[in-house]
Amino acid sequence: ARVVVLVSGAGSNLAALLAAHEDPAYGARVVGVVTDKPGAGALDLARDAGVASVVVAPGDFADRDAWNDGVAEAVAVFSPDLVVLAGFMRILSPAFVDRFAGRTINTHPALLPSFPGAHGVRDALAYGVKVTGCTVHVVDNGVDTGPIIAQATVTVEDSDDESTLHERIKVAERALLVETVGRAAREGLRVEGRRALLG
Ligand code: GRF
Repeated sequence: ARVVVLVSGAGSNLAALLAAHEDPAYGARVVGVVTDKPGAGALDLARDAGVASVVVAPGDFADRDAWNDGVAEAVAVFSPDLVVLAGFMRILSPAFVDRFAGRTINTHPALLPSFPGAHGVRDALAYGVKVTGCTVHVVDNGVDTGPIIAQATVTVEDSDDESTLHERIKVAERALLVETVGRAAREGLRVEGRRALLG
């Protein structure tokens, strides 16, 4: 399956997918990386892995809708079977979501529906939960509200701050994302109402 990854930051989730796709049995190949951030660390990862990348920066577009169209076009060029948001820090439009409906997945560093949004790790820590984790879900027109595909739990330590907790979550998150993308590629991904099912 052809996978396009959207990323805004360091791209450690992308790095995990690029490592996994070296195995022909994985079933998924990252064929393109799209970022909103010129200079994103993920661009170096893509280059080193010989994977095409495209920067679609909001500043290069007249308005938000034009930028969304730019992202959709950049993604469509790669003819993806699966679009993976891996640390992509922008909200995509309903037009984008509809164009790649049912085959766009996102990873979030909290146990949705708890702690959605851009500060899920900080919010979980502030709330005082003892267990948090990460969620891979299908992207719908809400923010972090789509049908859940897989989750993993991570214990919060008394000594944790946002950074140490996020790093521990990311260890679980990278493993969960690699497994979920591979299974979606090999076995398929079906959405039935609120349920997203692999295989
Ligand atoms: C991940 O935890 C993702 O869930 C969150 O930001 C982090 C991105 O990490 N949105 P990286 O860029 O993949 O290292």
